[in-house]
Amino acid sequence: MGKQIILNAFEMNSSMHNSHGLWKHPENKRQRGYKDLDYWINLAKLLEKGKFDAVFFADVLGIYDVYRNSKEPSIRDGLSVPSNDPALLVSAMASVTENLAFAITVSTTYEAPFGNARRFSTLDHLTKGRIAWNVVTSYLPNAARNFGLQDMIKHDERYDIADEYLDVSYKLWEQSWEDGAVVENVEQNTLIDPDKVHEVNHEGTYFKVEGPHLSEPSVQRTPVIYQAGTSERGREFAAKHAECVFVGGPTPERIRYYADDIRKQAKKHGRNPENIKIISFLSVIVAETTEQAEQKFEEYNSYWSTDAAKAQFGASGYDIAEFEEQDQNEPFEYKTKTEGGHYKAATLTKDAPKQQQTVGEVLNRFESLDRSSYIVGNPQQVADAIQYQFEQSGVDGFNLNHLVTPGDLEDFINLVIPILQERGLYKKEYQQGSLREKLFAKGNSTLPDDHPARKFRKVLHESK
Ligand SMILES: Cc1cc2nc3c(=O)[nH]c(=O)nc-3n(C[C@H](O)[C@H](O)[C@H](O)COP(=O)(O)O)c2cc1C
Repeated sequence: MGKQIILNAFEMNSSMHNSHGLWKHPENKRQRGYKDLDYWINLAKLLEKGKFDAVFFADVLGIYDVYRNSKEPSIRDGLSVPSNDPALLVSAMASVTENLAFAITVSTTYEAPFGNARRFSTLDHLTKGRIAWNVVTSYLPNAARNFGLQDMIKHDERYDIADEYLDVSYKLWEQSWEDGAVVENVEQNTLIDPDKVHEVNHEGTYFKVEGPHLSEPSVQRTPVIYQAGTSERGREFAAKHAECVFVGGPTPERIRYYADDIRKQAKKHGRNPENIKIISFLSVIVAETTEQAEQKFEEYNSYWSTDAAKAQFGASGYDIAEFEEQDQNEPFEYKTKTEGGHYKAATLTKDAPKQQQTVGEVLNRFESLDRSSYIVGNPQQVADAIQYQFEQSGVDGFNLNHLVTPGDLEDFINLVIPILQERGLYKKEYQQGSLREKLFAKGNSTLPDDHPARKFRKVLHESK
C-alpha cells in the first residue's frame, strides 16, 4: 500500500480562527458552540467518523494588537478572542472517541515547563496515548505583557529558551521515573519504589527544576512533538525536536523546500528523516457540483472581514496599516526587521504565490478570501487537487481549515473522504495503538532511539 494522508482538523477553542468575518454566517455553529461541551463532543464524534488522525488546536495568549497599534479591530471582529484553554476540552472529547488524537498548542515562552510536563502526562494517561504538543514560541506583544514582560523576548532567543524548555521536559518525562517504578507491593508496604524515582536537578540558563516529575510515566512518556514556525531558527529547532512539523507555503514547491531543509538538518542530529512527518495547510470548499462550490465560495466571501485578516497579519510584527499610506505602485518590501513570526511575514514576500508584488496588490489580497489558497470544486475535482498537492509537495498530510463549522467538515467527510479512500490515499480503518504508533510504527509508543531526548533515558540506564 502507498503512503496515506495524515489528516488533522485545524481548530481553536475560540469563536473564530482563520474564518475572518464568518461568525456572521447563519449556519456557523462555532460562535455559540465553542463554550459548550456538547459542541466539542459532537465535533469529536464527527471527526472520528471521518477517520481524522487528530484535532489540532492552535492557541494564543493575548490579543492581536499590532494592526493600527490597537486591540480594537481584533476584539470587534472576534479574531481569536474570546478564546478558551484548548487542553481542558480533551478529556470530554477523548471520552467519546477511541482513536482521534489531540494536538495542543502550548508556548514555551510563557508557561513554566514543570507544570506543562504534568499537564501533558495527565492528558496522555487519560487519552491512553493520544496526545501531541504543538510547541510554539509565540509572537504577540500583548502576550508578553500578559506575562509580566514589557517587550517580547527576541525571536531567536525565544527558540533558545524553547530548546532548554524541551530538555527540562524530556528529563521529566524520560529520565525521572524508571519503568516499573510503581510496584504496588502490599507485603512490603510499597506503592512506588523510591529508588526508581529520580530528581532531575536541572540548572540551565533559563530554568531551574529539581523534580522528580509528579506524574508516573504515561503511554507515550513524551507526547508526540509537533512544531510550527518556518524561520531559519524555527526549522533548526524542528529538525532537532519535532516528530511532526506544520509548515505553511503557497505552492507544493515552497512546501517541499521547507520539508527538504528540515529533513536534511535532521540528519545532522543523527535522526532518520523518515521519523519526521510534514503537514501543510489544506483549505477546501466542496459541494455536489462545481457551480454550487463556486457559489458557496462567493457566499462565504460576502461575510469576509478585511480588518480581521489584517489584524491577524500582525503575527508577523508588521502593521499592514502603515503600507496604506505608501505609494500603491511601489514594490512591496519590509524596510525593518521585527521580532514577530517570520512564517507570517513570508506569506507576503518569499512565500507569496506571486513574487515582487506592488503595495497595492498586497493590500488587495486582504480584501477577500484568497481564492489561490482554496481548493474549490465538486468532490472529484477536490480529490484530484488534494492528490496533486500530496504527491507534488512531498508532505505526509494536512491540517484542514474550515470556515463554517461543522458544515464544512461534514461536507468534506461525506463528499471527499470516500473518494480518497477509494484511491487508497486515505485509511478505511484506524491503526490500533497510541498516536505515535499510528503515525510511525506499531509496537513503540515511546520516542524512537534516534530522537535526541533518548539520551536522557540512556543516562538513567547507564547510571545503574
Ligand atoms: C502553520 C503555523 C501555525 C502556527 N500556529 C501557532 C499558534 O497556534 N499559536 C502560536 O502562538 N503560534 C503559532 N505559530 C507560530 C509559532 O508561534 C512560532 O513559534 C513563532 O511565531 C515563530 O515562528 P517563525 O519560526 O516562523 O518565526 C504557527 C506557525 C505556523 C507556521
